[in-house]
Amino acid sequence: MKKQIPFFYPTIKIIILLLFVLCFQKIKSQQIQQNPNLDPKIEKKIDSVLTLMNLNEKIGQLVQYSGQWDATGPSTSQGDQQILKKLKKGEVGSMLNIYSVNSIKETQKIVMENSRLKIPLIFGYDVIHGYKTIFPIPLGETASWDLEIMKKSAAIAAKEAASSGLNWTFAPMIDVSRDARWGRIMEGAGEDPYLNSVVGVARIKGFQGEDLSNIFTVAACAKHFAGYGFAEAGRDYNTVNIGLNELHNTILPPFKAAANAGVATFMNSFNDIDGIPSTGNKFLQRDILKGEWNWKGFVVSDWGSIGEMIAHGYAEDKKQAAQIAMNAGSDMDMESYAYEANLEKLLNEKKVSIEQINDAVRRVLRIKFQLGLFDDPYKYCDEKREIDNVYTTENLAFAREVAKKSIVLLKNEKKLLPLSKNIKSIAVIGPLADDKDTPLGNWRGRATYNSAVSLLEGIKKSVDKNVKIIYAKGIDLIIPTVEKGENQFLIPLKFNTTDRSKIAEAVEAAKKSDVVILVIGENAYQTGEGRSQTDIGFAGLQNELFDEVYKVNKNIVLVLMNGRPLELSRVSELAPSILECWHLGSESGNAIADVVFGDYNPSGKLPVSFPHNVGQEPLYYNQKNTGRPYSDKHVTFSGYRDAPKTALYPFGFGLSYTTFSYKNLELDKTEISKNGKLKVSVEVTNTGDRNGEEVVQLYIRDLVGSLVRPIKELKGFEKISLKSGETKIVSFTINSKTLEFYTANKKWEVEPGKFDVWIGGDSTTTLKKSFTVSE
Ligand code: BGC
Repeated sequence: MKKQIPFFYPTIKIIILLLFVLCFQKIKSQQIQQNPNLDPKIEKKIDSVLTLMNLNEKIGQLVQYSGQWDATGPSTSQGDQQILKKLKKGEVGSMLNIYSVNSIKETQKIVMENSRLKIPLIFGYDVIHGYKTIFPIPLGETASWDLEIMKKSAAIAAKEAASSGLNWTFAPMIDVSRDARWGRIMEGAGEDPYLNSVVGVARIKGFQGEDLSNIFTVAACAKHFAGYGFAEAGRDYNTVNIGLNELHNTILPPFKAAANAGVATFMNSFNDIDGIPSTGNKFLQRDILKGEWNWKGFVVSDWGSIGEMIAHGYAEDKKQAAQIAMNAGSDMDMESYAYEANLEKLLNEKKVSIEQINDAVRRVLRIKFQLGLFDDPYKYCDEKREIDNVYTTENLAFAREVAKKSIVLLKNEKKLLPLSKNIKSIAVIGPLADDKDTPLGNWRGRATYNSAVSLLEGIKKSVDKNVKIIYAKGIDLIIPTVEKGENQFLIPLKFNTTDRSKIAEAVEAAKKSDVVILVIGENAYQTGEGRSQTDIGFAGLQNELFDEVYKVNKNIVLVLMNGRPLELSRVSELAPSILECWHLGSESGNAIADVVFGDYNPSGKLPVSFPHNVGQEPLYYNQKNTGRPYSDKHVTFSGYRDAPKTALYPFGFGLSYTTFSYKNLELDKTEISKNGKLKVSVEVTNTGDRNGEEVVQLYIRDLVGSLVRPIKELKGFEKISLKSGETKIVSFTINSKTLEFYTANKKWEVEPGKFDVWIGGDSTTTLKKSFTVSE
């Protein structure tokens, strides 16, 4: 007999279903409410868009193409025509490398006027240290230790980029990097996790402002997640072999700070960590970033990094690569063409889930909603704003401020600097002395070729009319491998190692002058992506030029322009004055002249250690002690037989035209509980005859830990101004945030025990006190 179904069964089913839906919605809305980063209104809108989308449209949102298209749209090449078709069908989420209001508007129009759902594109670009007004390279700018100016320079870069139609920058890079051989060291904030964290947050706040929907802000991108700066032997893209301690205590803190600061996007990295490429690293992206940190933005792959898992030997083909990347939480595929070709198949084969795809799409849409692109897809596209806001006199003036604060005075024997503006004669010598391009550095956005103020120009503007300036290039640093103004980004440099014909003229100039300003270092493209080097000295004939000039005039102000720590041992013994001037951007020459002639008293401090020689790399101040830290009696200790184990110029170091003294380091308590806090203060006095600025730095050491702790760790700093003779008391609070670390228990906690604390003007400071943390 057929089983009778009671009449109320369907009703019960419906009620249960309704309850389930209600419950689910409640949980979801609670999650949204609990997460302050989520706006319930936006989440609702995303829900409604998601329900309308078909699978191809969803996958399309996870696809990003590069297109260097001109104003009229894509070229007729097959690839570009393919992209055009996809855009029309609404199967592209983002484009990169399209710039200018006109081009961006035209591209957006293709989507808005042809696609079914009209989901606007998000336009990304590498706005790394300026869009058209160029600021110092990030490593150089970090030397200012001035978070406010870094925030403001990012805000100006964002305003210029947003006024040109863009809404997303692939910055800041917050990879802790301790290896001067690695070319990309120029893009970050140096070797210290704390410094990378606070600088990263300042830059993110500058780019994103208070409100992503503001027409002058752009979405930022914390990159490269993770470990990219630890590429073995400083070789770009290389493997990374680190354990959990290094990962959590050194590499991840800046990323966690970025996530907490609400960075809109993350970019993963090319390297593998312990055998797993970051792009396919579920532990990093799903468990830590999206899980533990509960971060709600989207992860873009690095350029082609999904496809590169094949070359890594981690995926057999693009299909498997797409599967691994999606499972690992890589949301958007930059230029691998792996998602568009494979996600549907993978879904049908149940190798990826629709929940994963929906979550990735939701994340992309969320940022588009936050930017306000759904309200007005052309909101960043206003020709007038582009003309009014880009490369303005005001922006350039600020670039000069930032540049002069980024300069680090490394040496100043017998107070050769500052020079008098009435000095009789100056020889300005060197391949970079009148170089208007090198100061723009690598990753220079839309900078115009040769548009920086050269140092020669800056000097001429600064000195009295009757000062005799003799310029002599001395040597060419490189032999061009591209036409003037053509993009050198991918093309190797070739150094001049044979043509010495201009050296004699430089020697003559040096002979005839009271002082020589010798400008050497690195070409703009010696650092940046793919620019790793095993030699970090002066390339080409620069050493020879130095020697020949030094023979006839020892009054040398050595001005260095470079993107990485250089090996300076020899020149630092000989040259009486050395200024580290990085690649300082559009206003380089004016800013350096401000410092050379004393209109600005230098205040920069190194964000990275400068070694005695390259064999010490990777070199960083916050090393571990090892079981054999030091012995002067025999050889069996951890060091080198042919070089010191410490830096030539240490982390945090930089001189001023005045001097500062530190005394009376005081603690208000010498014992605190794990959740307690104490105040540490010090008296800083300007003991010289000029007003100046000083970066007061706080370091601690946790003496015994469940994991071996570094011998010193930066935990705070304050940049102060002091008039000549003035004293200020600077104090810091030490609390559980200062003392905690990722312990052997695999969590962030404070371990009781003894701690040392130092305050001083660089990482070698010896002014120390101790305190104890009890249970
Ligand atoms: C770099 C990224 C950059 C991307 C887009 C990659 O090669 O590693 O840092 O954002 O290209 O230009």
